[in-house]
Amino acid sequence: MRIDIITALPELLTGPLDHSIIKRARQKGIVEIHIHNLRDYAFDKHKTIDDYPFSGGGGMVMMIEPIDLALADLKSKINYDEIIYTSPDGELFTQKLANQLSCRENLIILCGHYKGVDQRVRDHLVTREISIGDYVLTGGELAAAILTDAIVRLLPGAISDEESALTDSFQDDLLAPPLYTRPKEYKGWKVPDILLSGNDKEIENWKMDQAVERTRRLRPDLLQE
Ligand code: ADE
Repeated sequence: MRIDIITALPELLTGPLDHSIIKRARQKGIVEIHIHNLRDYAFDKHKTIDDYPFSGGGGMVMMIEPIDLALADLKSKINYDEIIYTSPDGELFTQKLANQLSCRENLIILCGHYKGVDQRVRDHLVTREISIGDYVLTGGELAAAILTDAIVRLLPGAISDEESALTDSFQDDLLAPPLYTRPKEYKGWKVPDILLSGNDKEIENWKMDQAVERTRRLRPDLLQE
């Protein structure tokens, strides 16, 4: 898979996408992640990428031309399945959407900034708008990092234990059951007896019961869907 991220602040993305599972997935060639500085596509000598809104009021708007040039440059070399714009008023990002996007070959993520982009970018240049939650960030970079992280860890081979992505919370609309490791007792706090019983079938039943109970208690909305 290949993910191209277009941003006015590339420094915000290099750190989050260069560690742990994502770093290993990149090294193994499971994913190629390319970060592009939108200013490289500015067409004037001041490298301008934003301007005042015609509607007045505070805040700057990202101009269409540098974005169009950046997208045209990428699209001239590769066919992209989706051009995603990160914005708080987009479709809500869920595990289901992460699963869907992890099946695509090539994605572009365009990070919003300032007050947002010229509406014509949204109307004519992007194929999808995604929000990571009902709150407003200073820019779309952290959202792009979250999308990328959630998508890449689902790619075959990204996680060494084949089973572990499948048993994540949300993967089957249930929260994951609790986990324990050694010691068996700490400050009088004990690991549930059943997990030490060695009875695999009972342990599997316990895990399912715990998953359903936690979901009912913490996220009843997931059970209603
Ligand atoms: N940019 C600013 N806030 C955002 C959000 N909640 N999701 C995606 N992109 C954003």
